Amino acid sequence: MSSTIPSQGHNLDTEALQRLDNKVVHPWENFGGIGTHKRLVIERGEGVHVIDSDGNRMLDGPAGMWCVNAGYGRREIVNAIAEQAMELAYYSPFSNATSSVGLLAEKLAEYAPGDLTNIYFTCGGSTAVDGALRFAQFYNNALGRPNKKKIIARIGGYHGSTFLSASVSGKLSDKTNLDMAENIILIPAPKPLLRPAGMSLEAFCDEKVAELENAILEAGPENVAVHIAEPVLASGGVIIPPEGYQKRCLDVCRKYDVLYISDEVVTGFGRLGEMFASEKVFGIVPDMITMAKGLTSGYQPMGGLMISQRLIDDIKASGTDYKWFSNGFTYSGHPVGAAAALANIDIFERENLLEHVRDIAPYFAERLSELGQLPVVSEVRSIGLMAGVECDLDPETPDESRDMAFASELDKQCMKMGLLVRPVYNMCVMSPPLTITREQIDFMADTLMKGMRAVMEQRGL
Ligand SMILES: Cc1ncc(COP(=O)(O)O)c(C=O)c1O
Repeated sequence: MSSTIPSQGHNLDTEALQRLDNKVVHPWENFGGIGTHKRLVIERGEGVHVIDSDGNRMLDGPAGMWCVNAGYGRREIVNAIAEQAMELAYYSPFSNATSSVGLLAEKLAEYAPGDLTNIYFTCGGSTAVDGALRFAQFYNNALGRPNKKKIIARIGGYHGSTFLSASVSGKLSDKTNLDMAENIILIPAPKPLLRPAGMSLEAFCDEKVAELENAILEAGPENVAVHIAEPVLASGGVIIPPEGYQKRCLDVCRKYDVLYISDEVVTGFGRLGEMFASEKVFGIVPDMITMAKGLTSGYQPMGGLMISQRLIDDIKASGTDYKWFSNGFTYSGHPVGAAAALANIDIFERENLLEHVRDIAPYFAERLSELGQLPVVSEVRSIGLMAGVECDLDPETPDESRDMAFASELDKQCMKMGLLVRPVYNMCVMSPPLTITREQIDFMADTLMKGMRAVMEQRGL
């Protein structure tokens, strides 16, 4: 079947589009098979659905990449982008101001927890994390503590793909064949499923908090600059730490004068039913919050870093003469990205999207939890509108590649039935657009169940 995008004037069929795509080096590219892939070509999006180049309509389980929070085909965002681009496509943020960027800063400050009312705009999540880590270095240098350099992050965490943000990411297989920055300490993931049989959640939480404290003590608090943590480890498989963990980790950081960055690139903008989850969901006011993705619902690439006024006051009051933070991008504060973000936030407010997520999340959790009855599912985790279904075909004989093959086959089965899911190792991770309805959640859960049963049958399980 042929595919036509009138605005681009082509009429290429799927095979031709896939051939073109083979000149594209994708993220996480497998250079063993480069040039031979046949990737699904996504042509259009409508609400919670995407449509491929053969006209197949699929519910978008991952919302693009945890990002199309307001859903596809939002005319208001598109108009805001077009109007801003026509009026002023770009101007340098280095020494000039633009109105949409200023208005967005004001809007974000309204939602910011505590005194995190200063915003540094970036091109996406990785650059926000990179900026936050560099700001932590800058802060300690300005305060005359040049040894305070070490960064503590967690195994299973994901923070991006610049040199520094990739270095603090803790998905260990992603580090193969790549060099990493120094001064990084990775502590174990706060993943309750991994606790030994018989250990209570409280004892597990104590252990994970103690691991952070011990890491600080071993390195020497005078050498540790910052701890970076996603409130819920998203790409690591929706790992939900035990209750109270985030608050206790923040307390440990405060005790040793270690800064705390809450990476809300995924959890921000409604995913957990709040604009920012740090304070409202987890009771913490960190020193910095990083954001991206849902900020523009993916309509424009944009990220940001909220910085506490306290840190800025400390730098102002420090004895250092040279107070320039020499870090910035051509697109730090892009007027078109800011216009998209403002229109996006406007939709959240007009349509009460945060309330919708809070209302529907228990149903999402309930329906997906049914998958837990299957013998191949070791755990179903969910919070807000994000969920992870972990597959373990035989806990007696662990085999990661067997379980990964199962999850990837599940992906194919679900796709045939009109549901896109995202396999991550042996897990299937979901984070649909926030506008999802009960009927669409039913479709997701029922399709996953059918897909699981089909793959189990294929494998004689
Ligand atoms: C928690 C978290 N931080 C940072 C990033 C990096 O964001 P980006 O891909 O926009 O650079 C991601 C991306 O998935 C993420 O999940």
